[in-house]
Amino acid sequence: MTNLAIAANGLRKSYGDKNVLDGIDIAVPRGTVFSLLGPNGAGKTTAVKILSTLVPPGPGSGEIRVGGHDLATDPQAARAAIGVTGQFSAVDGLITGEENMLLMADLHRLPK
Ligand SMILES: Nc1ncnc2c1ncn2[C@@H]1O[C@H](COP(=O)(O)OP(=O)(O)OP(=O)(O)O)[C@@H](O)[C@H]1O
Ligand SMILES: [Mg+2]
Repeated sequence: MTNLAIAANGLRKSYGDKNVLDGIDIAVPRGTVFSLLGPNGAGKTTAVKILSTLVPPGPGSGEIRVGGHDLATDPQAARAAIGVTGQFSAVDGLITGEENMLLMADLHRLPK
């Protein structure tokens, strides 16, 4: 478990009658790049929101660990270990990649 950056078992989420995530498993090793692909409405953003603690997982979800931290018992430690940027960032088309990186560094109060 500790060699995994993200570990989720049986991730579930419904909105009303709509079953969005029907028990998905994710295991992402540390130090790797992982892409989550799927058609529009497949539940990608919902999964990312759960993994980044922005929305709670649905009932019946198994254990979820991010950066080794259990989201159910230590969400603050998981938040401290990650960075999330939205699909529709307001400044993506306005500033360069380097400027975007420096902005994120400023927001995280990284030293010069
Ligand atoms: N807050 C919400 N309330 C109700 N339904 C929602 C909510 N958020 C998402 N959904 C529904 O859940 C399903 C999955 O949405 P989600 O945004 O996770 O998909 P996605 O894979 O990110 O899609 P896209 O490729 O368009 O970004 C969709 O049917 C969406 O309408
Ligand atoms: Mg999406």
